[in-house]
Amino acid sequence: MLLNKLSLALLPFGTNAAILKPRLDDGVAGTPPMGWNTYNHYSCSPNEKIVRSNAKALVDLGLKKLGYRYVTTDCGWTVANRLANGSLTWNETLFPSGFPALGEYIHGLGLLFGVYEDAGIKTCTTGIEQAGSLDHEEQDAATFMSWNVDSLKYDNCYSDETTGYPNTNYAPSISPRLRYANMTKALAAQSRKVLFQICEWGLDFPALWAPSLGHTWRIGNDIIPAWRSIFRTLNQAVPQTSFAGRGQWPDLDMLEVGNNVFTTPEEQTHFSMWAILKSPLVIGAALKDDLTQISGASLSVLSNKDVIAFNQDSLGQSASLRRRWTEQAYEVWSGPLSGGRTVVALINWANEARDLTLNLPDVGLQTAGTAKDIWKGKTVSNVKTSYSSSVEAHGVMLLELRDTTPAGVYPSSKFGIRNGNTITFNSIYANTTSTNHTVSIVFSSAATTTGSLQLQSSSDTKSISIPVGKSAKSVSSPLSLVAGSLNEITIQSTTSIDSIRIESPSSTYYPCTSFTLSGSAALAKCGTGFCLPVGSKIGYIDGKSTARASVHATVSTLGTTNATSKYLEVDFINNDIALATSWGFGSNTRNMTITLNGGDPVRLEVPLTGRHSELFGPGLGWWDSSTMGIVVDGWKNGDNEVIIGNVAAGNVFQSYGADFVGLRLYN
Ligand SMILES: *[C@@H]1O[C@H](CO)[C@@H](O)[C@H](O)[C@H]1NC(C)=O
Ligand SMILES: *[C@@H]1O[C@H](CO)[C@@H](O)[C@H](O)[C@H]1NC(C)=O
Ligand SMILES: *[C@@H]1O[C@H](CO)[C@@H](O)[C@H](O)[C@H]1NC(C)=O
Ligand SMILES: *[C@@H]1O[C@H](CO)[C@@H](O)[C@H](O)[C@H]1NC(C)=O
Ligand SMILES: *[C@@H]1O[C@H](CO)[C@@H](O)[C@H](O)[C@H]1NC(C)=O
Ligand SMILES: *[C@@H]1O[C@H](CO)[C@@H](O)[C@H](O)[C@H]1NC(C)=O
Ligand SMILES: *[C@@H]1O[C@H](CO)[C@@H](O)[C@H](O)[C@H]1NC(C)=O
Repeated sequence: MLLNKLSLALLPFGTNAAILKPRLDDGVAGTPPMGWNTYNHYSCSPNEKIVRSNAKALVDLGLKKLGYRYVTTDCGWTVANRLANGSLTWNETLFPSGFPALGEYIHGLGLLFGVYEDAGIKTCTTGIEQAGSLDHEEQDAATFMSWNVDSLKYDNCYSDETTGYPNTNYAPSISPRLRYANMTKALAAQSRKVLFQICEWGLDFPALWAPSLGHTWRIGNDIIPAWRSIFRTLNQAVPQTSFAGRGQWPDLDMLEVGNNVFTTPEEQTHFSMWAILKSPLVIGAALKDDLTQISGASLSVLSNKDVIAFNQDSLGQSASLRRRWTEQAYEVWSGPLSGGRTVVALINWANEARDLTLNLPDVGLQTAGTAKDIWKGKTVSNVKTSYSSSVEAHGVMLLELRDTTPAGVYPSSKFGIRNGNTITFNSIYANTTSTNHTVSIVFSSAATTTGSLQLQSSSDTKSISIPVGKSAKSVSSPLSLVAGSLNEITIQSTTSIDSIRIESPSSTYYPCTSFTLSGSAALAKCGTGFCLPVGSKIGYIDGKSTARASVHATVSTLGTTNATSKYLEVDFINNDIALATSWGFGSNTRNMTITLNGGDPVRLEVPLTGRHSELFGPGLGWWDSSTMGIVVDGWKNGDNEVIIGNVAAGNVFQSYGADFVGLRLYN
């Protein structure tokens, strides 16, 4: 039996044009805010000494100079009872000098003063009850203003009236939006602008409404001091990356760098991803207090100027997930930077260091004049098609690419090796094995001679004629190429060749409605304009091998090689959001397996796709589809049986697999 190989690309998420919703267009947060916050290290037990010594450390350690400016005291600073006149006040045991004095101290260091409150009747707390701002928005905003506050992080505990104000309710019957809007209004009535950080844990898909109310919004539940929460958070970020933009930043939560919970490669991955997804960068470690200080290794992660510059880049566009290889345990994200540059991150999810290869076509590129490997601290020139490097366990290959060219175009000057009338191009990439790729040969000047030229790839030979009596600028031919980046093309021609271009073959679409179902799998119709491009989906694919959807696909383009990898794209849906499960093993993913011709199932673990509210939106976000590209081995010319399932391999967290909309097979 052939060993199935699988890779996965994510397409519609990759569109770079930000979907800019009306936003708080007040000039605050032109780039993602950076700072320090008490919570990740000190929980809800801050005090004046802690905040002062960490604020001072921001300056002393050079972090202020790098852009970390907001110093925020999180939960635990206030008390249960308001003053007689209704104003909020601080806990005098913890903050004997008072909040206004704390603000003065912070401002005196050239930093900004951040406070925390809650859109409920009490703040989140791990200890004593403390007053929330619900129904006191105007007075609290005025109080903060009188203390010269610069930012407000606004939490969501004890906020749901209809269920009697429990600590958390992840499925309230009323959107949190109106409570946040009341604080927006109260802050807007003040004389100075305040950075407003919406922290309602991603309920009701805030990407659609938070930009008009605040400058940042939390995309999901809290980060926890465990490596698995990085994967969980990234899977939730996937359908939201296009919402990032000037003045509106998706908040992946505060950093755990420096809290001695991650290895250095893990800290590099965490920091790199938060930076390129344009999250606020808020340090959550003890920089310096009476007991501890941050390690040199963690400080150097937080101080990396290139990574900070990616986050603060003037273009303000987030990177997006481009391709995921589930079984090979790595994935690729990329995004545009100002100056025509591109940032790419390849994450090694495996528990060991490995050599990994980035194929530039996976991020839409063919060459890069230079690639700066950020964490390796080296720059290489003239990168063609691929870049390989060792990547630590849970580490990241983070690259800044300059002077790039788009995928599919191979200039002779870069790729061609001449020998008389023969020119050989190597490092030719194809994402599928097919006899039906189109190769276009572009001449340096119009070929006026007539005749034929010889075209040869590792798996094919073609003779192409230049049309008689015409001057041809280019000629095209189908050509066989094998999936991967190792194809070589040789051309014999008396006319000088400028470049060659490669196009993928055409595709055939197999909608879910054409699949045969068994077991618990069930077809459902979606609302008009949803479950694109089919309008229906197959759900309830449970972990038993009997629940599945199958179809027969005819293939005729494998040619005579023994290569059997074909590229296909799966349209799927997952809106299984990890809320209560985020403290444990919730990952925001679902599995899908593809079994070809009775071979071993290959597994994709797909991220969230929902781009509407899980509480009130159409289909509760379960009608929003996305696409991933995968390469599956084991195809044959003639009839092939494809089974979409969710064949359990080991312990599964969620027994239902991703919903399936359809698949597109590249001929
Ligand atoms: C202030 O904080 C201290 C230490 O956590 C606590 O013991 C005390 O009860 C708090 N005071 C009030 C009024 O909440
Ligand atoms: C309430 O009382 C405190 C303490 O005296 C004072 O600082 C604050 O300005 C008062 N607030 C209002 C709204 O009068
Ligand atoms: C918002 O404020 C208005 C006016 O104070 C109040 O009537 C309304 O109940 C508030 N809405 C929420 C959801 O708190
Ligand atoms: C693979 O080929 C298809 C068809 O041209 C294209 O749409 C897709 O972007 C390619 N994917 C990758 C990862 O190169
Ligand atoms: C067939 O596969 C083997 C092993 O992967 C390889 O060495 C050989 O070159 C292949 N033959 C052709 C015709 O591609
Ligand atoms: C997906 O499958 C893998 C391997 O069996 C499993 O570890 C993981 O928990 C599954 N994911 C979910 C969301 O069930
Ligand atoms: C191969 O490509 C040609 C030209 O695009 C197309 O007409 C033909 O249908 C393709 N063959 C297959 C099997 O897809």
